Amino acid sequence: MNTAQFIPSTLPFSIEKATYTWQTPSNIALIKYWGKSDPQIPKNASISFTLNNCHTITSINFVKRVTLSAVERSQITFELFFEGEKKEAFKPKISQFFERIKEYCPYVFEYHMIINSENSFPHSSGIASSASGLSAIAMCLLNLEKELNPDLSEEFINQKASFLGRLGSGSASRSIEGPLVVWGKHPKIEGSSDLFGVKFPYKVHSVFENYQDTILLVDKGEKQVSSTVGHNLMYKHPYAEQRFLQANENLAKLSEIVQNGDIDAFINIVESEALTLHAMMLTSNPYFILMKPNTLEIINEIWKFRGETGSKICFTLDAGANVHVLYPKNEKEKVNHFIEETLSNYCQKNQYIFDNIGLGAKKL
Ligand code: DP6
Repeated sequence: MNTAQFIPSTLPFSIEKATYTWQTPSNIALIKYWGKSDPQIPKNASISFTLNNCHTITSINFVKRVTLSAVERSQITFELFFEGEKKEAFKPKISQFFERIKEYCPYVFEYHMIINSENSFPHSSGIASSASGLSAIAMCLLNLEKELNPDLSEEFINQKASFLGRLGSGSASRSIEGPLVVWGKHPKIEGSSDLFGVKFPYKVHSVFENYQDTILLVDKGEKQVSSTVGHNLMYKHPYAEQRFLQANENLAKLSEIVQNGDIDAFINIVESEALTLHAMMLTSNPYFILMKPNTLEIINEIWKFRGETGSKICFTLDAGANVHVLYPKNEKEKVNHFIEETLSNYCQKNQYIFDNIGLGAKKL
């Protein structure tokens, strides 16, 4: 694997201070990443829809550090503000991220960084913010790198931002571009890599254009088991090897499906992936359950509605109790009505977020 390509060989320009602001989205996996090896290499390939409304906006103010002692030169310094307030609690994760990427971004030693971040979705809504949060920081770093070396191509910038994001949180590798991104080397996806996400390289059928995703906020509390712990439980998991094979087979099938528009086959794979992800949690040791009773109520309501109306609505889950309701654009009115009338009753404080597929990172 060629990681050396991401180590800058030359940075011809010099900059004293600069501020860059990027908006990057969250994403929802259709084929799930669950299980990894060091350093953040996925055990199977995954594919996700990039979201549009659920995003993070991050500004980094870079100020060149002057007259550094040898000790200072070996330290990375930053301040972190989340929604206007200093957030010491988030610092260890970001410090760890900088430690992992310093080899690829040696310029982080030269600047003091003031990071300001905010999410479009409510804080502790149970929506994973690591994908959007880390991809936004990665885009700000690449913006600086582009100013230090204007020769960088857009393709390289997206690739490296995804590569850096991945080192912070695997799913962040899928939050730079859209509408569909594959992360993990897969024989059926040209250009795919374990190191970074790539835009799905084939033509997507029109039925999947502008697909809708409404996120039902079933449980907004802190998760009992983090994704990182969950991934680690895939070591020594009795079904792990079979699961990794299955995920790669499902990705091969889904690749065909998104090209040929077979929406019934899409529903089958996507719902099976969601339940399999949670089945891995149920069969880990220690075992755990992230779904809540209302998660199951919602799934049953969706199946009932689909059976009764012939709708193409389906669901997926991430590592939590919330439900992502997926449906084609032409069913928007009908499904939104169903969500408001029925599904919202199973949400905490009746809260849900209408979203749809987006195109990735935006400079503000
Ligand atoms: C269930 O990307 O949050 O959402 O790499 O440890 O940060 P780390 O894990 P993370 O795991 C995401 C798991 C998932 C499935 C997916 O997004 O593919």
